[in-house]
Amino acid sequence: MNILITGGAGFIGSHVVRLFVDNYPNYHIFNLDALTYAGNLENLKDIEDKPNYTFVKGDITDEFFVNNLFNSHKFDGVIHLAAESHVDRSIVDPLAFVKTNVIGTMVLLNAFKNIWHGNYENKRFYHVSTDEVYGTLGETGLFTENTSYDPNSPYSASKASSDHFVRAYGETYGLPYVISNCSNNYGQFQFPEKLIPLLINNIIQNKALPVYGDGNYTRDWLYVKDHALAIDLVFHKGKNTETYNIGGFNEWKNIDLVTLLCAQMDEKLGRKAGTSEKLITYVKDRPGHDLRYAIDASKINKELGWKPSVTFEQGLEITIDWYLENEIWLKNVTSGAYLEYYEKQYS
Ligand code: NAD
Ligand code: TYD
Repeated sequence: MNILITGGAGFIGSHVVRLFVDNYPNYHIFNLDALTYAGNLENLKDIEDKPNYTFVKGDITDEFFVNNLFNSHKFDGVIHLAAESHVDRSIVDPLAFVKTNVIGTMVLLNAFKNIWHGNYENKRFYHVSTDEVYGTLGETGLFTENTSYDPNSPYSASKASSDHFVRAYGETYGLPYVISNCSNNYGQFQFPEKLIPLLINNIIQNKALPVYGDGNYTRDWLYVKDHALAIDLVFHKGKNTETYNIGGFNEWKNIDLVTLLCAQMDEKLGRKAGTSEKLITYVKDRPGHDLRYAIDASKINKELGWKPSVTFEQGLEITIDWYLENEIWLKNVTSGAYLEYYEKQYS
């Protein structure tokens, strides 16, 4: 089987690529990634020489290039993760999100449709999406697979749009697809523009810890390797045309999460308890900031037997240890363009 994973040099994609390359020696895994600021081949150093792995540098919006790639390798399966993924960046440059997340998904769908001409036996297009398509919850309730789409940010609107196109290709052309919508991930190799690695990086450097608004926003956090395991299950055992919600059963208000992280970091760094908490700085809120996300993951649990394997405290400790042991990785990704972004976003 030839499997195409898009966005495999990014945060979640690199964990999915590694899992598939290691666990499925009979598959050939092609990783298609444009290596934007968020893509980094350092994330895959340990598997780059494996015989069942090939990296391809390319842009999913480049129709000619993508069609040639599909014609050459006749991918049996596609696991599509490539995306612009950061809400704050989508507020500054929404069109970039439409291009990659909507047009890019369309280009992949067309390429997949055009190589198989309706002969879809044992073929699958897996679209990896986010819980943010459902918009925001109030103080109670959970997102289920039947919750109506109600996206509030340009990022979530672009992901919602791509989800709709995948579904439409299933209805219109019979394309065999599955979609999963997952909550916030954290773990190794996450680019430090997202909350948890940004906080870790700033604590190491004794820099202010920016908390948007009053800090009372709630997210449901999942360890990235548990997401990768869920993706493996959905790809192999999920039912065509179905959606699976994936979440950590693990809600945290931002301010409580920041406080927990500060305490764990003080201990790891041998600093006096309470040192990092003093760095907390309330800053201007994100426009259109969704109050609360929380996933009902009972469908994937009941139908496919998936549940998170680590607690939040365990996952966070593994994550902190990894960032402390990989300060060179952190330094490399936070130089140059990152510093410019940081200045603009937080000045
Ligand atoms: P990321 O930003 O870390 O990685 C995205 C990858 O896509 C990068 O390697 C980048 O180089 C690549 N890419 C971007 N534009 C491209 C293009 N035009 N052509 C080819 N490659 C391109 O993102 P992530 O956090 O790993 O998220 C991966 C996927 O999972 C996304 O689709 C995202 O919407 C979804 N998701 C993320 C989270 C989360 O918490 N991070 C949660 C749920 C779903
Ligand atoms: P983020 O990691 O950007 O994920 P998402 O917006 O996709 O949920 O942000 C997680 C939460 O943390 C969100 O409520 C915004 C908040 N946040 C801050 O308070 N400060 C920050 O510097 C960042 C990046 C996020």
